[in-house]
Formats: sequence, structure tokens, C-alpha cells
Amino acid sequence: QTIFLKDYTPFDYIVQDVHLTFKLAPRATRVISRIRFAPNPDASDTTFFLHGEQLDLKWAKINGADIAPSITPEGLTAEVPEGAFTFECEVEISPETNTALEGLYMSGGMYCTQCEAEGFRKITYYPDRPDVMSTFTVRVEGPHPVLLSNGNPATSGEHFAEWHDPWPKPAYLFALVAGDLIAHPDRFTTMSGKDVELNIYVRKGDENKCAFGMEALKKSMTWDEKVYGREYDLDIFNIVAVDDFNMGAMENKGLNVFNSSCVLASPETSTDANFERIEAIIAHEYFHNWTGNRITCRDWFQLCLKEGLTVYRDSQFTSDMRSASVKRISDVIDLRGRQFAEDGGPLAHPVRPDRFVEINNFYTATVYEKGAEVIGMLKTLVGDADYAKALDLYFERHDGDAATIEDWLQVFEEVTGRNLKRFKRWYTSAGTPQLSVKESFKNGRYKLTFRQETPPTPGQPQKKPRVIPIALGLLDESGAEVLPTQILEMDKRQKSFKWKGLASKPVPSILRGFSAPVILKRDTDDVERAFLLAHDTDPFNRWEAGRELAKSTLLNMIENGAPPNAGYLDGMLAVLRDDTLDPATRALMLGLPSQSELTQTLSDKGVVPDPQAIYEAVQTLKLAMAQHMQDTLPRVYAQCQVEGPYSPDAEPAGKRELAIAALGLGSRLDGGKAAKEQFARADNMTLQISALAILLRQKVGDAELSGFYEQWKHDRLVMDKWFGLQVSAAAPEDAAEIADKLTQHPDFDHKNPNRFRATLGALAAHHAGFHHISGRGYTLLADWLITLDPINPQTTARMCAAFQTWKRYDLKRQEMILAEVDRILAQPNLSRDTSEMLTRIRSA
Ligand code: ARG
Ligand code: ZN
Repeated sequence: QTIFLKDYTPFDYIVQDVHLTFKLAPRATRVISRIRFAPNPDASDTTFFLHGEQLDLKWAKINGADIAPSITPEGLTAEVPEGAFTFECEVEISPETNTALEGLYMSGGMYCTQCEAEGFRKITYYPDRPDVMSTFTVRVEGPHPVLLSNGNPATSGEHFAEWHDPWPKPAYLFALVAGDLIAHPDRFTTMSGKDVELNIYVRKGDENKCAFGMEALKKSMTWDEKVYGREYDLDIFNIVAVDDFNMGAMENKGLNVFNSSCVLASPETSTDANFERIEAIIAHEYFHNWTGNRITCRDWFQLCLKEGLTVYRDSQFTSDMRSASVKRISDVIDLRGRQFAEDGGPLAHPVRPDRFVEINNFYTATVYEKGAEVIGMLKTLVGDADYAKALDLYFERHDGDAATIEDWLQVFEEVTGRNLKRFKRWYTSAGTPQLSVKESFKNGRYKLTFRQETPPTPGQPQKKPRVIPIALGLLDESGAEVLPTQILEMDKRQKSFKWKGLASKPVPSILRGFSAPVILKRDTDDVERAFLLAHDTDPFNRWEAGRELAKSTLLNMIENGAPPNAGYLDGMLAVLRDDTLDPATRALMLGLPSQSELTQTLSDKGVVPDPQAIYEAVQTLKLAMAQHMQDTLPRVYAQCQVEGPYSPDAEPAGKRELAIAALGLGSRLDGGKAAKEQFARADNMTLQISALAILLRQKVGDAELSGFYEQWKHDRLVMDKWFGLQVSAAAPEDAAEIADKLTQHPDFDHKNPNRFRATLGALAAHHAGFHHISGRGYTLLADWLITLDPINPQTTARMCAAFQTWKRYDLKRQEMILAEVDRILAQPNLSRDTSEMLTRIRSA
């Protein structure tokens, strides 16, 4: 059944307050609720329907009198009196057998919850929709030393604790945690002088992995005060680490629940990339307290209202804490890898979708990452000062509201006097615009003519032009900047911009900082790319020029069997030697476009990509780079060694990154000798696992692989790495077989999403391995999706996206993929989640 945005109506009642009592028991938890309802003056109907799924109702009362409501698999309907009334009921649920990890469930002996988007209805009967907001008082009864819920602690005693959350919230922000947990405590004083208790709760054995997360939390709190003027609003802020979790983390009011992989960190067990990601996710969930919780979404179509904005805010935070250009480049790599693929395939949907079957399928790169890009564009268009004013107005006007994208845009219109009707198309129209550009120069006059075109997407055959902010600079032939960055507003299908009085034909640097999520199409040559790689003042476009050079080199190798381009090799050698560039940027520049990005580029050109040929071209190019850089690699490796105790800060992490890049290239010539040495002396996970990856790729790492296992078999998060790495470092012809073997390993547990993703997600991400012509990758993934679907539909459905690109490939691969998709679709009782995903993928 499809739900449509246009059908929105408010709920018939308002909830005045909620009292919940939980009597915890693994297979027979009792939930007793007392909810005060009143008619909603804004509603037209008086039907009283409460969501509820998989609940065993023991009794229900209205105003103290027993009632016999009618029950369906979706919920409960009852006759209610006119005016306000109190509804009470008791239900029984079974957290221990809840393998879907939605609602109240158990993970490693502890109770925890995940309610977004529609999990609260698996806990008790309730209007489980984000526009119904209420205060909650919760009593948790159980034998566990730690009993947590949202808000501030009230009374507690032996085997019970009560919590009161004074801030009205929708049910999706409800949380409860109970278990034998250890707190890593701290305190924070807010800008108005309020003292806040902070805790990170973990299972025994993980208490030495909390310190970094706690520092990240305090930095986030300070940053949100400074940059957005947002202060924390409860006496306590708790974070809990959970091993079995479908997503990264969840912003429940005052009680954030985290996938343990997104909060636990130590130098011995976490890589530099892990540290950076943990810092960003802690910030993200904390920032939701204002953008998501104090101001929430009217309905789930507005998901990007909180997610796009919060991703944008966490990216600003990371840019401030670390390197802004490195963060931007990494975000664009990720956007192109995941979001462009989604936007260009059968799963394409607008940043604000207008229909869905299962909302959990819309926690996507489009809603999150493109949603953040849209906010970045808005800020570019209105400028920093007006952005700040608009945000102040948004917080002031909508605090306590369940708001919409219209509300969001309205504050910008009021502050700037702009009409954002056209800009709004970024929210309502799917697909990645292609921006082509032509230039002309005559008598000192320079003209750029842009044209935008968005290919059709499912349900949207025709596309109207959008407002595209194009950050542009002009360089002269010496590399000096003749026009510093300015913003061109491209708001038509075609538009020209002119400059006069130029001494010579300039070299344009277009879309600086990747000022819009578009595909820039420009007929240019490698000479100009090499020029921009050497001279552009914009760090993003400098990287982009190198990336374009790499792409054209690889495409020429793949399509024409050409040898690696000498100009590219020289350019990269210059980058490697350029000590004025920070190491992290150099490492990024030395990286090659991903094989799926190359696939996308080829199929955009109408060429059918051959995954094996792409893989081989990349290997050939890397070997040629290694040979070309042979003399410099050891020197750079030596220069980038970090002395002293490990720190995950950007500077030492950047040095390690460049050292590892140099080591990886060098290993193609020394048979892995230097990598073996690094593995042997590594005292942190970054150096240890990068060496292991290099050795496995060279097929000389068997001893190290088993040594690693013996060293880390007790650590769940490190073992996830052990599983994932073997697949991602495999040769294409071996990847599926290795993944298959790993799923038979005693430590494999398909019920744990982290382990499942580590193994099968790594296979899906191994482009040439997953798409190997044997078809084994497709079959293995389908087998496991069939096994997992009845257990955990959400994680199954997410992973179906591996099949979304089927149309790009040759007929043989298309047939094999579709056969697997159909085999899954033919399973009896397939979940709504998985069947929606596969049906959309199939119907393109
Ligand atoms: N709101 C969470 C976050 O962005 C994600 C929760 C997603 N949950 C889900 N069932 N889809 O941090
Ligand atoms: Zn979020």
C-alpha cells in the first residue's frame, strides 16, 4: 500500500501527556500506558485509531472503564466519548525474540529500543506519527543496575527508575535502555551556566573505548552554542553503545543510542577514519536535539528537513574541527559514489519524496547527503549572514513544531525577500542535473554559456530547470587569478555570463568547492586539466582536475587499450613531491576514481562497462604510478612517519594516510616487504590494518591474517574489520568464494547487522568481485538476503540496493541479476521493505 504526501491530514486527537510503565522480562515484557487525549480542533474526523503491531493486548480502558476495542494487525480502533478522555491499556511484548531490531529488543543481554521511523507501535498502542507530540513520564522496572529513558531522572529505587521528559516529542524519539552497563561520566556547563551530566554507557570490557566519544560530545555541544546559538535543554545527556543496531545511531531525546561501531574508539582497535566518523556521528546525533527534536517533521515525507540540515551541520562541524577542503573532497567522493548512483537508477526519488510504501527504505543518500547539498546551495545563494538570520528565525518560529519544507523555505524567503519557488525544485524533483558549458573569447570579451538538462527518473519524465549556484574563478595563462570566486546563478535551462577587458583568454575554474550536486560536462583537454591541477587556487577544483585527468587516463586505457598517460604520471609525481600541499590532500589526489564511478561514467557515455577490464586498468595504472614514483615513494613514506603517542587528529592522520598511500604503491614493486615491516611494528589499528590490506592484495598476507585473528578474536568491532577486509582485498575471481567461506566461519552471525554488512556488504562494494562474470556474487548475496529477510527486513532491504545498477551492464549480467532479484521476490511472505526495494529496482 502506497502512502502519498498529498493525503496528509492531522491526527484527530491531541495527546496531552503519556505515562508508561515497563515491567521488563525477556519474552514477556508488560507495557502499561496511560494517555490523556483531547479532540484536535484542527482535525475534521473523530475516529480514534492507534497504531499497534505484534502486541498482545491484555486490557484497555477509557476513563477507567473497560473497553473492547477492535484490533487489526495495524492497530486498534475504539469508541470514545466527546471531549477529553484518558486511555489506558496493558500489552505484552517479547524483546528477546525481536530480531528485526525495531521497537524494544535485546542485544547482548541488554534491553534497548529503536523507534524511528515507526517502531513505537511495536511497543504499545499509540498514534505513532511525528506530528503527535507529547511529554512522557516513564517508569522502568527490572533487576538491571542501569535503567534509562528520555528526559530527566525522577525517583528511582531498587529495581525501578522513573524518568520525565518535559519537552513534547513524537513517539519516534522515545527510548528505553536497561542492562548491566558501565558509565563513562563527565559534565558540561552550557553557555547560560547550566550544569549537565553526561554519560556514555557501555558493556563491561568497553569502558576504555569511551574517552574519545566523550570529548567529541563536549566539542559538539560547544560548537552548536557558538555557531548556531543552540544550548542543551535537559539536566542529563546519555549515550548508549549497542552491538546489534540496524543503522549508525539514533537521536532519542536525551538518550542517544549508538551502534557500538559508531561510538567506541581506541587507538589499538580503531582506524583514523573510524575516529573521524565517530566524531561526526556523535555531533550529528547531538545536533538533532535542535534540528529534529525541538523542531521535528510533520510527516515522514519531510525527513530531509531534519536529516539534510543535520548532515549539513555535522559537515560544518567536521570542517571546523579538521580540514575543510579534505572534508569537502571526501564528501563529494561519497556523494558521487552513492547518491549519484541512486539518482541515476531505478531507486531515484526526490530529496522530499511524495510517496512511499515503507518509510525505512527512504533513509537514503538522497534524503541525507543530497538533502545536505541543497542546504549548502541555499547558503551559497543567500550568503552567510542571511543564512544565520534565517536559521535564527527558523528556531524561534518553529520551536516545538512538527514542520515542513515549506516552513523551512518560508523563513529564507522572509529574511532575504527572495522567491524560492524555483529553488524548491531541488526538493521535489529527482535526478542529477547535467550542466554543460561552452566558452568563447573575442576582443577581451569572455563568455560562458551553461545549459542544464536532467534525465528522466521514475515517475518524472520531464524536468524543469533548477537554480544552480556556480562558483567560478578565472585564471590567466600564468596561473594567476584574474577573477576571484564569484557565484553565478544559473536559473534557466540555458544562460550566458560575460566578462570584458581581459588581456587574454582565461582558464575557467568552474563549480569551485563543488557548489552544486550536478554533473559538469565540459569538453576540455588534459592540458587544461594538468594546468588546473598545478595552478587552481581552489583546493577542491585542484583535486577535481587531478581526478578528471585520472578518469580520462583510465577511460582511454579501458576503451582504447592505451598505455597510462605520461602527463598524468608526471602530474601525480609532482603532487607527491609538493611539500606545500598538506599530506591528507596529497593522499586524496593520489587516489583513483572508484570502479563504480568509472562504470557510471562509461555507461553515461553509452559504453557497456566491463568490470573486469576496469579492474585491470586500475591495476595497470597503479603499477605504472609505482614505477614512475619509485624513487620518491620511500622518501615520502619516511617523511610521513609520525613520532610519539598516537593521536587521531587531522594532522597526524593525514601523514599516516599519505604514508599508507605511498606504501600501497611501493608494495607493487617490493613484494610487500615494507608492508610486512609496518605490520610487525604497528602499535595502532590504522597502521596495522592498512599493512594487512596491502599484504592481502599482494596475496602474501596469510600469516599476518591469522596472527591478526588470534590477536583480536575477542573484539567484535575488530573482527568486523577482519571479515570485511578479506573480501574487499580479494581478487575479483576470489571475492565471492571468500565471502561464502566467511559466512561459514564460527564467528559469522547473520543476525548481527555489523557482521552481516562487514561480509556481504564488502562483497557488494567490491565492484569487479560482485559483478564477476561467474555470477557467484549475485547468487551468494541473494541467498543471504533470502535468509535474512524474515529475521531482519530493514537490513535486508538496504542491501538490495546492490542490485540497483543492473541496467548498466551487459545482457548476460543483466539476466543473472534479474534472475536473482526474481528469485528473492518469489519468496513467500517477503517483507514489505524488501519487496518494495526489489519491485522498484525491477520496474526500471
Ligand atoms: N535518525 C537517525 C539518524 O539520522 C537514523 C535512524 C534511522 N532509522 C531507521 N529505521 N531508518 O541519525
Ligand atoms: Zn540524522
